[in-house]
Amino acid sequence: MYVDGSIGKITKRMKEVRLKSLEGSSISDERRKEYRNVRNVRLGETLCDCGVFLLLRVYNAFIEMHDTNCCRGDKILENIIEISGVRKVYRVGNEKVVALDNIDLTVEKGEFCCLLGTSGSGKSTLLNLMAGLEKPTRGQIRIKNEYMEKLNEKKLAVFRQNNIGFVFQSYNLLPALTALENVSLPLAFKGIPRSIRDKRAKAMLEAVGLTSQLKRRPSQMSGGQQQRVGIARAFVGKPEIVFADEPTGNLDSKTTREVMELITSMARKHNQTLIIVTHDITIAAYADKVIHIQDGNIEKVEIKQ
Ligand SMILES: Nc1ncnc2c1ncn2[C@@H]1O[C@H](COP(=O)(O)OP(=O)(O)O)[C@@H](O)[C@H]1O
Ligand SMILES: [Mg+2]
Repeated sequence: MYVDGSIGKITKRMKEVRLKSLEGSSISDERRKEYRNVRNVRLGETLCDCGVFLLLRVYNAFIEMHDTNCCRGDKILENIIEISGVRKVYRVGNEKVVALDNIDLTVEKGEFCCLLGTSGSGKSTLLNLMAGLEKPTRGQIRIKNEYMEKLNEKKLAVFRQNNIGFVFQSYNLLPALTALENVSLPLAFKGIPRSIRDKRAKAMLEAVGLTSQLKRRPSQMSGGQQQRVGIARAFVGKPEIVFADEPTGNLDSKTTREVMELITSMARKHNQTLIIVTHDITIAAYADKVIHIQDGNIEKVEIKQ
């Protein structure tokens, strides 16, 4: 966050110098705007322009190095995901498939983002890269200050266990396990004792309206019920980020609405970051930010106020 000491009023010339010091810097447009609107500077008018220029340069560099937060009104916004210059090329025989071309994207903590695009546009590839399930051919993916492309499999697994929940289109529940066992499984991987994980899993299943289905196996439940179990499993470990790839792709429109309301309300309750992949514009309507993907590129980003 930028902090202004407010000693003297900024002169026109100093403002020009101040703006010039931002040239070529990688700070966000929001922060740039905020900076442009600042009327006071820490140093009074007495300092020569050259001194101000240099100090502001150092100040900006320091802030960029140490702080990925920015300010909107009184709310401090933290970029939980930062993607820069990401490209992903698959090789199929002798052919190259460019799944993602040159992606730059930031996601703020607590934001609900939707990756929207037609089939084959690169949505799942982008989600898989963010989750560290695949490595980019080029570029960086920073999540909570960890570069995903640099982590080895073991560290990635631990990172995912502690920070990420997944909801899948085809639920991916283990068929031999009951709803309760499926939901408590991520907690077992974290080494949480059985009595505690059963209690938490039960509470989650209650939150998704499945108290009466604890002992049922996936084959004994409807698609909507199975996806509720999938949602309970994704949220049970209180992850900071939840990824969902076409979570309502196999559901009818009424169940789709119920499932979407459930996922969004759960994420909002605990300020969790939610990223949903979809080709369906009605799902995108729920999101704070819609990232339109086309042929491996971000075509546009829509931010709702
Ligand atoms: N493992 C893979 N091997 C080769 N090509 C792939 C692989 N995964 C995805 N692709 C290709 O990359 C492109 C983007 O795929 P994907 O990210 O799955 O799109 P979406 O999720 O938007 O439908 C497509 O052309 C797809 O065929
Ligand atoms: Mg896909």
